[in-house]
Amino acid sequence: RAAPRKRKLTSLPLFSYQTKAMEILREFEEKCKTSVAKLQQVADDMVIEMRKGLAPDSDSTLKMLISYVSNLPTGDEDGIFYALDLGGTNFRVLRVKLGGGGEVRTEFKEVPIPQSRMTGTCNELFDFIAGKLAEFVATEGEDLQIAPGTQRELGFTFSFPVEQTSIDRGTLETWTKGFNIQDALNKDMVIELTEAMEEAGLDMRVAALVNDTVGTLAGGKYSNPDVIAAVILGTGTNAAYIERVDAIPKWEGPPPESGEMVINMEWGSFQSPHLPLTEYDESLDANSKNPGKQIFEKMISGMYLGEIVRLVLLKMAQEARFFGDTVPPKLEESSVLTTPNMSVMHHDSTGDLEEVATILKDKLEISDTSLDMRKVIVALCEIVTTRGARLSAAGILGILKKLGRDNGDQKSVIAMDGGLFEHYEKFRNAMQNAMDELLGEEASKNIIIEQSSDGSGLGAALLAASNPRIAEQNES
Ligand code: GLC
Repeated sequence: RAAPRKRKLTSLPLFSYQTKAMEILREFEEKCKTSVAKLQQVADDMVIEMRKGLAPDSDSTLKMLISYVSNLPTGDEDGIFYALDLGGTNFRVLRVKLGGGGEVRTEFKEVPIPQSRMTGTCNELFDFIAGKLAEFVATEGEDLQIAPGTQRELGFTFSFPVEQTSIDRGTLETWTKGFNIQDALNKDMVIELTEAMEEAGLDMRVAALVNDTVGTLAGGKYSNPDVIAAVILGTGTNAAYIERVDAIPKWEGPPPESGEMVINMEWGSFQSPHLPLTEYDESLDANSKNPGKQIFEKMISGMYLGEIVRLVLLKMAQEARFFGDTVPPKLEESSVLTTPNMSVMHHDSTGDLEEVATILKDKLEISDTSLDMRKVIVALCEIVTTRGARLSAAGILGILKKLGRDNGDQKSVIAMDGGLFEHYEKFRNAMQNAMDELLGEEASKNIIIEQSSDGSGLGAALLAASNPRIAEQNES
């Protein structure tokens, strides 16, 4: 009989397999531990890397990119501006009306980016984006309408590591997250977008090129002057903060009037010997689009958490017969279990973990799981989430320490954006708990994490508004 050969696992008595599965889980839990002492070390390493990265020619794992944003929005910004937000699984186009008195109105559209555009050519990506932007501009209505003949202005949020030379110029250093378009590397993203816009028949000027962290910082500061930093916890993770220019030895220009500069840390690439890495992290990294890079990001952000859970389950299936005699084939496919799937399982409040069963069935084609097995899976989600959330808290502590604000003497607000933080409640709670543990309850009261949904689009529009055009259009 030519039945397909299934991989048969060597036979041990059943109870040994169960013990083995628990062993794998316990060992993983042990390796993922993030005691307060360990998180303090991570935060201290972060401070060291920040200092190094602010010096010229450094070998820091943090890029500490200069954003050329030295003045944050004041509230006086006025007019209608566009923003384009590219960097995750979707991109957004926005039309923002700034009222001059801090009042804001926005209209936006969200467009999923086809996988093929994330790994094709630079032109394919930008033509696609410019096309969608043109469609959106065409819907400009009575309400938010720019006077005919006026060139439109755009804030471009581009959430990848970009080496900038001014607020509206910057070359791409490397791709992160799921993007990998080789011929875009070292090109100026503003020039590429501008060309694509011209081809799409759009008369639009890119007035500001900003990272999403920088946009979120600008948007956050607009509504709350106590904002000192911004963090993204979404597909990827990163932070930006306001630094004193005299603490940036690599800054070469004349000191800006404000004496300050926003720094895009690119903390996703942070590394420290104190990070609790496991064999699963190594295997995830080895099979990623950017091996050896973005190690911190791969332990924390939405693109990876579900995948870590899958890898542990796979090991349990292979070595401890967790799902029976054969390894479920779906479980061997990378990225089949997303972080949103994981979040649903983790928050399952039905007594018999029905939702866990549904995800296992729908996503992994695994049926017939016992309640005990489903409990193990929830425990696994808890371990992965807790580690990621606590490491994010350590990163924030690093920034506060660098600024001498970790004692809570002054009010410090961190503007936060990203789907992981917004939608994964247990992640959010674990992070806040870790902040309280690290800072102490008293200091923690003065350090506030403020969620700002889509602050980065608004921030980009605000920064576009504060970079006025140099030459007037239609000079006669
Ligand atoms: C990745 C990018 C970074 C961005 C972050 C959050 O880490 O490299 O630029 O800010 O994702 O989107």
